[in-house]
Amino acid sequence: MAMALGLTAGPGVAEDMTAGGAIHPERWPAPVWPLPADPALEARVDALLQTMTLEEKVGQIVQGDISSLTPEDVRKYRLGSVLAGGGSDPGGKYNAAPAEWLAQADAFYEASMDTRGGGKAIPILYGIDAVHGQSNVVGATVFPHNIGLGAARNPDLIREIGRITAIETRTTGMEWAFAPTVAVPQDDRWGRSYEGYSEDPKLVASYAGAMVEGLQGKAGDKEFLDGAHVISSVKHYLGDGGTSDGKDQGDTQVGESVLRDVHNAGYPPAIAAGAQAVMTSFSSYQGVKLSGHKPLVTDVLKGRMNFGGFVVTDWNAHGQVAGCDNGRCPAAVNAGIDLVMAPDSWKPFYESTLVAAKAGTIPMARLDDAVRRILRVKFRLGLFDAGKPSQRALGGKFELLGAPGHRAVARQAVRESLVLLKNQRGMLPLDPKKKLLVAGDGADSMAKQSGGWTLTWQGTGTTRADFPNGETIWEGLKNAAQAAGGSAELAPDGRYRTKPDAAIVVIGENPYAEFQGDLPTLLYKPGDDSDLQLIRKLKADGIPVATVFLSGRPLWVNREINASDAFVAAWLPGSEGGGIADVLLRTPDGGVPYDFKGKLSFSWPRRADQYANNVGQKDYDPQFAYGYGLTYASKGDLEPLPEIAGVSLAQAQPGVYYALGMLAPGLSMALEAAGQRATNVVTLPAASRDGSLRIAAVDHRRQEDARRVTWSGSAPARLSLIAEAAKDLTREANGDVQLTLTLRVDAPPKGDVAASVACGEGCGAALPLRESLAMLPIGQWTTFGIPLKCFATAGADLSKLSGLLTIETAAPLQLSFSRIALAPQGEAERTLECRINR
Ligand code: BGC
Ligand code: BGC
Repeated sequence: MAMALGLTAGPGVAEDMTAGGAIHPERWPAPVWPLPADPALEARVDALLQTMTLEEKVGQIVQGDISSLTPEDVRKYRLGSVLAGGGSDPGGKYNAAPAEWLAQADAFYEASMDTRGGGKAIPILYGIDAVHGQSNVVGATVFPHNIGLGAARNPDLIREIGRITAIETRTTGMEWAFAPTVAVPQDDRWGRSYEGYSEDPKLVASYAGAMVEGLQGKAGDKEFLDGAHVISSVKHYLGDGGTSDGKDQGDTQVGESVLRDVHNAGYPPAIAAGAQAVMTSFSSYQGVKLSGHKPLVTDVLKGRMNFGGFVVTDWNAHGQVAGCDNGRCPAAVNAGIDLVMAPDSWKPFYESTLVAAKAGTIPMARLDDAVRRILRVKFRLGLFDAGKPSQRALGGKFELLGAPGHRAVARQAVRESLVLLKNQRGMLPLDPKKKLLVAGDGADSMAKQSGGWTLTWQGTGTTRADFPNGETIWEGLKNAAQAAGGSAELAPDGRYRTKPDAAIVVIGENPYAEFQGDLPTLLYKPGDDSDLQLIRKLKADGIPVATVFLSGRPLWVNREINASDAFVAAWLPGSEGGGIADVLLRTPDGGVPYDFKGKLSFSWPRRADQYANNVGQKDYDPQFAYGYGLTYASKGDLEPLPEIAGVSLAQAQPGVYYALGMLAPGLSMALEAAGQRATNVVTLPAASRDGSLRIAAVDHRRQEDARRVTWSGSAPARLSLIAEAAKDLTREANGDVQLTLTLRVDAPPKGDVAASVACGEGCGAALPLRESLAMLPIGQWTTFGIPLKCFATAGADLSKLSGLLTIETAAPLQLSFSRIALAPQGEAERTLECRINR
């Protein structure tokens, strides 16, 4: 399929590449906003606006997060909106009960309507990331992530999913979903690839309006924005899927025509469907952050494209605008932002915005326009007359969370999203009457089949019990086998009790969200080939293997495909694992099951270095082209695929500083004692010049994969991990990433110990470590995390870290480490406690 969209027009091709790009609004599409001017509504907005104080106006354009905001704050500051971020839950419980969500929504609503302090009653707007169903709440139907929906090529199904998501969201009291994502991901290393429907703008465009209609109802119909619908926010405007190297929150350096024809594709249909909100991206266009990009936000989106809702920023993204920080950013408001997502920074942001409005730094006309846009949406939603969330039509109807009809639609979506890549000698469908082995660490894992944005931000840390309404892939297969009179055995590691007739091996990526999912290459699980070995072992036993691959993007798995008889790309199917059995197993009477329908919406790479190999490009050379997908009618045999990855292991693991006995390229280790010149650790054992600090090789999991460090002197001595080129870890710190050590304390500290980082001359921060080390079990391996935020709070500039970690003490201590790496919060068994500045 050839596209005349200039997808290959790289930077510089006859386009202006000045900061922020050269934007010509008149060259952009001009969709029709479907809501006719409504004089009655305008009169209500004007009347209310006229009575509002400056403080109330400023409060109206600020959104705080439930984890950093109380109802009392809302009452006092008259804030216009509240959100629950991916990691925010009532009472801090990721698996809080639906009733707790609803009660909290009521409390925020009541605070916004409480006029005892003299303020106006303006109902609060509550937004949440209902991005694949109301997936923050226990029991909700969890739909496949967008990448899987893209494979289904079914806009009507998308509309239906939106409708159900709105209903389930309403039961817990929110009236706003931060969806759909209409990114057009170009570089599959991007950690948010799975949030996009497709690399092809046409497919994204065909879904965007449908999803908005599903969530909001059809503009012009009676159902539009009624109590069974929510407002949508189309995101992330603009170019989030086009950042260089697929770096999340990065810079999109394409010409205006690519920005318009590729990345903007979803916005005109979403606007034509009446989308009530658009969320700006963390990313930049030509070096200018979108949250401060006036030509794109004001001139194009609101001006040329007739967008009649409000524009909201992303999580503290305003703090990244030039000249701003989280607590202050008139530039964002002046660029055309109407509501500022200041999750934990809402108070300083409110105060500084009030000052800016008083001083005229933010013109009153701009502030009034922002408030008007927000109020219009609240009136359209009928919020002023709706009563508190629990009293509304669907409030508290928790039986709708995961209702059978809803799950049936999700199960259909799972079936339609599966893409069959290989089916040697027609291995699939399998006979459910036979003996079936189900293996792989994805077989019986709700977390793994659901991915990020599922109960927790990263989708990690949940248990099976948190999903009362779903079925794992294993459970679905077992139930189908039993119904047909067959038998199935679960053995994640492949060690079966009874030799099976065939095996289904479910493997894939572990859950992640946002930048924590960014990859340096498209190598699947670099440095860990256990899944491949599992498939090969079963094959060696003479067992035919069908592999079901769970992933948020296409990855280089040619070896796994070669080793398997059949291979299915299942993406991140969500709670209805039974949809897999519907397609892979014959019916109980031996008939042909649901056929495969899915077609790739992302091109599948031939090598792990084909990061941005997209349909329509000049050098397009995929392993499986855009639109590929076998059915039971097609001949599914493949010749062996090339097994040359095209990348090295070191390239593939950038957040790993030390592992398997090796430092990452570009890093060095040094020992320094008693103020003498440092010793660079090149061979082992090594020691500081005075001999008081020593390092030697020891074993943890493999031969000499660990290092033991011994402090025996009484003068300060330190072990340092140094980066040749300074690293910027601000984004990781903002996302609660920790510097994590796999560690064993061999002899406890006898004096103070400090962990520090360095950021150039006179720049750095140290944290006390003694107490934490003293609490670790002696002689036992554990993982210990130091939140990067601790270093930032203690004064380090994380944008230019040259000293990644120094451990210093002037007293005896002995510890061993086998791995030092950046890891998401929650991965380490123990965490350093520290004060964190917001
Ligand atoms: C994400 C958005 C999300 C927001 C609120 C941000 O980090 O980029 O997609 O809607 O958080 O949770
Ligand atoms: C997410 C939040 C999360 C935060 C961590 C945001 O992008 O939306 O839910 O808690 O990052 O800093």
